[in-house]
Amino acid sequence: MRAATARAYPNIALVKYWGKRDAAWNLPATGSLSLTLDVFPTTTTVEPDPTLTADVFTLDGVAAPAPALERVRRFLDLVRERAGTDTAARVRSVNTVPTGAGLASSASGFAALAVAASAAYDLDLERPGLSRLARRGSGSAARSLVDGMALWHAGTDEESFAEPVASPEVAMVVTVLEAGPKPVSSREAMTRTALTSPYYRAWVESASQSLQAALSACRDGDLDRLGRIAESNALRMHAAIEASDPPVRYLRPGSIAVFDRVEQLREEGLCAYATADAGPNVVVICPPSEAEAVRTALAPFGTTVTAGPGPGAALIAEPVG
Ligand code: DP6
Repeated sequence: MRAATARAYPNIALVKYWGKRDAAWNLPATGSLSLTLDVFPTTTTVEPDPTLTADVFTLDGVAAPAPALERVRRFLDLVRERAGTDTAARVRSVNTVPTGAGLASSASGFAALAVAASAAYDLDLERPGLSRLARRGSGSAARSLVDGMALWHAGTDEESFAEPVASPEVAMVVTVLEAGPKPVSSREAMTRTALTSPYYRAWVESASQSLQAALSACRDGDLDRLGRIAESNALRMHAAIEASDPPVRYLRPGSIAVFDRVEQLREEGLCAYATADAGPNVVVICPPSEAEAVRTALAPFGTTVTAGPGPGAALIAEPVG
């Protein structure tokens, strides 16, 4: 055992994961498609230490809240079980994405943790194995193991990992509207949608169809078609979420204003499509050549950051101090 450090980037889904087939194994109800970004990385050091009596987890330099520590501990237990050890670890993580704001900090977080922990505890895993492991921490983390465009398969534990797919050239303009924590965690809202939304079944059916259509658009290198599918898939997910009981609403007036502006940009001749995860922030999909025009148009709505395809989670040399 040794200290190991990994860096992972968040990903934004073009066809969303929203619903589980099996919560214990964290298997998704449907496959999903995302782009790993080149901004907002999480860096995590895992240092097994036989003198510790329990895991210690610091996030951005301060002791993590109990629920976050518990999630990390449960994840490390999976790693320790495979490694045949019960040695606790010191985990230090630094996030550059606002935690809990719907910008996929759990994806970059568990992807970095999976890579760092499996190296620290000497598990010998290839990328699909690391993606399956990251999935156990947070479903969307499975996709942050992949460079750029990633397809995460539904199916059994063995089948459910993410792998790269060819894609048209793409940029994403992230518009951060509110950096505060979300009202209901995505995990809780996902369960509530499945249990109470009358639209959940329709969502699952339509997401499976959207995935096939999106993969065909990727194969054809057709960003306009891919963007159109992504925008409607996001709005369908939010419609299903909003129909839960009690309702959950992630999109804020500012989010809707960005969707409206993006529609206008299309009327003005740009290829721009909007998506949003479980939070108010909106991410706009466009060709790299149009990213600056899109970013300028969205600057009045919030903090805008242009991202391109980023690398899958990997070990790095410098530990988190
Ligand atoms: C809206 O991956 O955070 O971002 O597996 O319960 O940890 P858990 O859920 P999580 O959900 C992400 C939902 C989403 C859509 C997506 O990224 O596909």
